[in-house]
Amino acid sequence: MNLEQLSSYCRRRGLIFQSSEIYEGFAGFFDFGPVGVEIKNNIKREWWKRFVHERENVVGIDGSIIANPEIWKASGHVDNFADPLTQCVKCRTKWRADHLIEDALKISTDGMKPTELSEIIKKHNLKCPTCKGELESVNMFNLMFQTAVGPTGKLYSYLRPETAQVIFADYKPVLDTGRVKLPFGIAQIGKAFRNEISPRNFIFRCREFEQMEIEFFVEPEKKNDCDLLDEVNDIEVAIFDRVSQKEKKEPKKMSIKEAIKKKIFVNSNQAYWIAHSYKWLVDFGIKPENLRLRQHLKEELSHYAEDTWDIEYNYPFGWKELMGCANRTTFDLTQHQKFSNKNLEYFDEESKRKFIPYVAAEPSLGVERAFLTFIIDALVEETDRTVLKIHPKLAPYMLAVFPLMKKPELSKLSEKLFKELKTKFHCFYDDSGSIGRRYRRVDEIGVKWCITIDYDSLKNEDVTIRDRDTMTQERVKIDKIQEYINSKLN
Ligand code: GAP
Repeated sequence: MNLEQLSSYCRRRGLIFQSSEIYEGFAGFFDFGPVGVEIKNNIKREWWKRFVHERENVVGIDGSIIANPEIWKASGHVDNFADPLTQCVKCRTKWRADHLIEDALKISTDGMKPTELSEIIKKHNLKCPTCKGELESVNMFNLMFQTAVGPTGKLYSYLRPETAQVIFADYKPVLDTGRVKLPFGIAQIGKAFRNEISPRNFIFRCREFEQMEIEFFVEPEKKNDCDLLDEVNDIEVAIFDRVSQKEKKEPKKMSIKEAIKKKIFVNSNQAYWIAHSYKWLVDFGIKPENLRLRQHLKEELSHYAEDTWDIEYNYPFGWKELMGCANRTTFDLTQHQKFSNKNLEYFDEESKRKFIPYVAAEPSLGVERAFLTFIIDALVEETDRTVLKIHPKLAPYMLAVFPLMKKPELSKLSEKLFKELKTKFHCFYDDSGSIGRRYRRVDEIGVKWCITIDYDSLKNEDVTIRDRDTMTQERVKIDKIQEYINSKLN
């Protein structure tokens, strides 16, 4: 299924709408419909469960979207958070220069400076894709949305372009109140905004999106000590490190243990978080053959990063970043200490030493990108049906309850059962149309099990449970339905 077909499926089945659709939309902004919002909330819930609740060394926050503008000066976003822009002299359309070159010449522009991009445009005589006009030389365009705060019209701040900085700004209050000890992480899920020059590829690149991020702090001298590697050592991944990229070789398949031994990962804490995130993606349905770990080239690294790895996915439009995991060192806390004039050092009770903690890993995953990727891998066109084979815990509804026919005696029992089951699972009720049509409708939005009440149910107190993926049906006693579903889920 190409991206156009995918977005039309999402519109048709109530997953995603263009924002402001009745006003012809608004580029880069999207709304999640009744089915989509359930999937989106499930993704966030399962991420929080795995990365916060099931751990002892990560706590969460929920920070503000607009914050003191000093944060963005300290973080370097005011000076550095920009993409290369070129403009057509004829029709004045603005283009993201690196994307324009990549599309036209099929070459990578990772880490190139505006002057280099301008030279390539000139050398290859690249023109405006819309009107074939000349293109101006490349400038950097800051991606932060600025907004006036308060009535004076003199105070400006920004909509946050990443949730991470709010974590750094809250590091001290969390330390003061959170009963945390190094090594520990602070997690956050929330909105981020980027004034992307050319939002594209459906919800892959939006101007408003959500991020699920963790900053994992360690003692600088112990930055390479990670006692959790046993959890991830055996995971096999395709690794596309700097050397392979420079030498134009294929990614290599190896275990995390082997990659650490070969010093492909420079920091084992970072390796742990990359692998742990990879595992979560695969556990929830992303096919490993569509994933690879790509190390950023030196010239591509953000101003704050010592090393960054992306978990890339093979999208219909090529291998692209699904999520990133940077090693941000002590950069951010040092900057915030300098700009805020507040002491952000950590006092280690045992050694009686003070130091700025080191961020060994920042796993950062966009909710929309995760959503898109889960859907791409789950949506299957079979001969006589379209089925969304999404993980049951991410499915918009876990169960559908159907009376075989719309007859009072069947409806009575079905409604009773629906009422009971919906206090335990997210359920859907439908009694209109043929049973086959109803199965097809819920298959298309990923409902994992359909419970059908028929005339035998009235006599035997049992129902038929149909599995979405195999379409097999089993007879289950009414008082055993919850047990049946829970056993399947676990
Ligand atoms: N704090 C680090 C950070 O923000 P990033 O690589 O710029 O790093 C992290 O963003 C993740 O956020 C990306 O891997 C992607 O999943 C998501 N993301 C970034 N920009 C996005 C956009 N314009 N639309 C949708 N998701 C985006």
